Amino acid sequence: MDALALANIISGIKKATKVIIVSNRQPWFHERVADGIRAFRPASGLVTALEPIIEAVGGTWIAHGSASADRLVVDRKNRIRLPEENPRFTLRRVWLTPKEEEGYYYGISNKALWPLCHIVYTKPRFSRKDWDTYKDVNKRFSDTVLDEVGDSPAIVFIQDFHLALLPRYLRNARPDLKLIQFWHIPWPNREAFRIFPWSEEILDGLLANDLLGFHIQYHCNNFLDTVDKGMEAMVDYENFSIYRGGRPTYIRPFPISVDFKQIGIDAGSAIVQEKKASFIRELGPGAEGTKIYVGADRIDYTKGIPERLKGFDLLLLRNPDLKKKVTLLQLTAPSRTQIEEYRSINDEIEKLVEDINRRHGTDSWKPVHSLRANHDYHAVLAAYRMADVVMVTSLHDGMNLVAKEFIAARTDGDGVLLLSQYTGAARELTEALLINPYDIDQLADAMLQAFHMPEKERRQRMTRMRAQVEKYNIYVWGRKIFEELLKRVSFGKSRSEARRTPEAVRAVYRLSPHLAAVKYLTYRYSSAFLKKVNSRLTGTTV
Ligand code: F6P
Repeated sequence: MDALALANIISGIKKATKVIIVSNRQPWFHERVADGIRAFRPASGLVTALEPIIEAVGGTWIAHGSASADRLVVDRKNRIRLPEENPRFTLRRVWLTPKEEEGYYYGISNKALWPLCHIVYTKPRFSRKDWDTYKDVNKRFSDTVLDEVGDSPAIVFIQDFHLALLPRYLRNARPDLKLIQFWHIPWPNREAFRIFPWSEEILDGLLANDLLGFHIQYHCNNFLDTVDKGMEAMVDYENFSIYRGGRPTYIRPFPISVDFKQIGIDAGSAIVQEKKASFIRELGPGAEGTKIYVGADRIDYTKGIPERLKGFDLLLLRNPDLKKKVTLLQLTAPSRTQIEEYRSINDEIEKLVEDINRRHGTDSWKPVHSLRANHDYHAVLAAYRMADVVMVTSLHDGMNLVAKEFIAARTDGDGVLLLSQYTGAARELTEALLINPYDIDQLADAMLQAFHMPEKERRQRMTRMRAQVEKYNIYVWGRKIFEELLKRVSFGKSRSEARRTPEAVRAVYRLSPHLAAVKYLTYRYSSAFLKKVNSRLTGTTV
């Protein structure tokens, strides 16, 4: 499955159907540099995954224009064709004021929904003012999408937790739009979610989609349960769908991936060779001949970076003979720095690195090299290529694409992956050394195991993991999503037809007092008869 095959599926849907991707984070941002303006790619798994898709289907990507020179490069409709050297899609930027960014991005998205969904013992914080801003900004995105779509039929593919209300605004304005949303982070259990003060509005927003995707079945189950116990809607556990206002939303797992082939090609390029040479210079002669352990993360309290450092410290404490035989290269990208928890995790990381280097380092050898910068794509690939071991120690992660990128980059078939069992990736990459990052002893043990792992075993494990990522690459992810949409919704309906409420739906409204009872009985006994009654009430087919 490659880019062309995916493009063919989408172009076969219906002539004149536009494809729009919407996310908060943009795939490219423009900054002023000494000799003009340069385009950069952000550190974002979402962008890594979605860019090959938009390049394959060639639609429009709508996102927040947040960088210093973003306004200087767009046309009057705030559009720019990208990538600059070989344009294949259009980016349309949405502008936000600093106050809007504060309430919508830092506030509800990253101080409330992010910790709420990850459950890593960082308390979510809620503010009604932020919530109002979140609603306004979602509305702004909706206006932009509607303007971009015009009168055409369109598939709108919405990304993530920043835009949970967008589908409802779009559905109200244009019932005929085909709406898909992918939630890139975990969906928590209902106990955790129910403390969100506007939980019904978030759920109602998401249930305006035709299709709602999560990385794994477990998150789908959590979502079904959250809706079932939290609001008036009909949850069908057999078909993994939810009826609200007479419309179904299909809830499905789609484990996200990477462009396996392209990463392999890029990892072998001259520019990656150059970056590798510059890392080797940076690490200095002390690192020569040592086994290189690599971490590459946004600085985020969900990524388990302090735990990883503590594990490395313990490895050296318990095995002093490993001194001058191992080096940790930690690449960190600053992230969400306006939020206190992100600043304090950064301070904690810096202090741990200093402590480890003071405790174990010698004049000629520094155990940990922590490089804090927005490392570009090729630099990260270079780090993967020079790694003996890559460590992904997230306390909780929807998928984690560092793990998959590392595997795709290792065309030489060597290298060890140490992977947190609390990532979506751990479900697929069972040949990794799976660890519980909260257990520092276990982390140190796994680092030691990686050190001693024989080449034959390393290659066997890597071969199996490469086969997995190659088979379920990003185009398969895209294909499965669009095929599911095709299976579930009709592309024949005109706008006016779609506006008409079917008789069955009106029946549901009339009978709504009885719905809860039917819902309960169907769930409890699940007999063919009850399913039939159920379907009569909701207008669905059994
Ligand atoms: O994958 C989850 C996610 O929040 C994406 O939506 C986002 O682009 C990425 O992590 C990086 O975070 P941010 O965009 O806030 O820098």
